[in-house]
Amino acid sequence: MDNFTYQNPTKLIFGKGQLEKLSEEIKPYGNRVLIVYGGGSIKRNGLYDNVLKELAKIGAEVFELSGVEPNPRISTVRKGVEICKNEAIEFLLAVGGGSTIDCTKAIAVGATTDIDMWDIVTKKASAASALPFGTVLTLAATGSEMNAGSVITNWETNEKHGWGTPYTFPKFSILDPQHTYSVPRDQTVYGIVDMMSHVLEHYFHRTTETHVQDRFCEGILLTVIETAPKLLADPENYEHRATIMLNGTLALNGMVNMGYQGDWATHNLEHAVSAVHDIPHGGGLAILFPNWMRHVLDEENAPRFKQFAVRVFGVDTTGKSDKEAALEGIDRLRDFWSSIGAPATLSDYDIHESSVETMADKTVIARPEFGVYKRLSRQDSIEIYKASL
Ligand code: NZQ
Ligand code: ZN
Repeated sequence: MDNFTYQNPTKLIFGKGQLEKLSEEIKPYGNRVLIVYGGGSIKRNGLYDNVLKELAKIGAEVFELSGVEPNPRISTVRKGVEICKNEAIEFLLAVGGGSTIDCTKAIAVGATTDIDMWDIVTKKASAASALPFGTVLTLAATGSEMNAGSVITNWETNEKHGWGTPYTFPKFSILDPQHTYSVPRDQTVYGIVDMMSHVLEHYFHRTTETHVQDRFCEGILLTVIETAPKLLADPENYEHRATIMLNGTLALNGMVNMGYQGDWATHNLEHAVSAVHDIPHGGGLAILFPNWMRHVLDEENAPRFKQFAVRVFGVDTTGKSDKEAALEGIDRLRDFWSSIGAPATLSDYDIHESSVETMADKTVIARPEFGVYKRLSRQDSIEIYKASL
């Protein structure tokens, strides 16, 4: 295990009816509040009205930024920054999924500087502060509710980049599983794939003696695999929504990856696909992850993949080489994702060979090689995309 320092300052407020804590959580930060939300799901399911009622309790002066896109755009971030500056906003409240939260993180930083946020997202400049913000999560997927990361797309240059700062942890996040009842089936599936992918990005690492971390990861994967079909059959089941929601948070709040560095190549490959084709993040991961696994699997790392196959999918290894067992585990992952309705090929999104070179270019925009478990080049990207067509 490697040395590490762990600090996660986000207060997690989880469970039925917890929205009633919203006003008291915001109160210490001021009363000029910007609510940030997406395309209107919170208006249709009633959450918007309930949030306003909570804000009225503290006499908050409420401003709004709506229309945050899935795969949030830098142009929307800039709009939010302008509102914050013009209206002297004191606190930001994201009400939505990962896209809304990520956009809010960028606005929070942008509001305290004259540097254009794209320069900070692309790491040409660094952030020194942020306005305080909280979240009311409506979709179990990214873990953005309890981490400092954010992913922003520039639609003019077709680039999508992850960034983060010590200032972009939410002050609090309210997670009521009931707020996810209205998430459509496809988005529920994408969220499930995304949280599993976060665990998989962690799991394939080169540090030894990570016994408890391995078990955390396997525990999350096993729990999600067990719960996902039950939830999809019964989408308003509180316990299933709660289980999936908590797994999404734990998968990417830094807990399970203490003491080692995960891989993250597949996220880079997916962000490049989304940057060019604007597809749902979880949908892209479902297509790419098994193909990344097949691409990097070799004799030397086969035991790690075999461990995954045995512990997560109960693969019987009798009479099989490590590599054969490993390949069976990868097939089982693919089959599981297909069984819950996740896409399996890029052509499911009408993405074909003609896009491969362009997407591969995007994977190496920030650096010539990527991935920690196995270093990948542009040529590897091409091969993985071709295997995914
Ligand atoms: O925009 P609205 O109308 O709210 O609809 C959204 C959106 O269309 C809908 N939705 C959300 N909650 C709902 C709901 N519909 C009905 N009922 C509800 N309760 O779902 C759609 C997708 O929402 P979005 O926020 O885009 O999904 P997700 O949470 O999967 O976020 C995806 C974004 O997060 C980034 C992805 O790249 C992508 O841009 N990621 C962020 C990470 C992070 N900050 O740590 C890590 C991830 O790996 C990921 O890259
Ligand atoms: Zn993800």
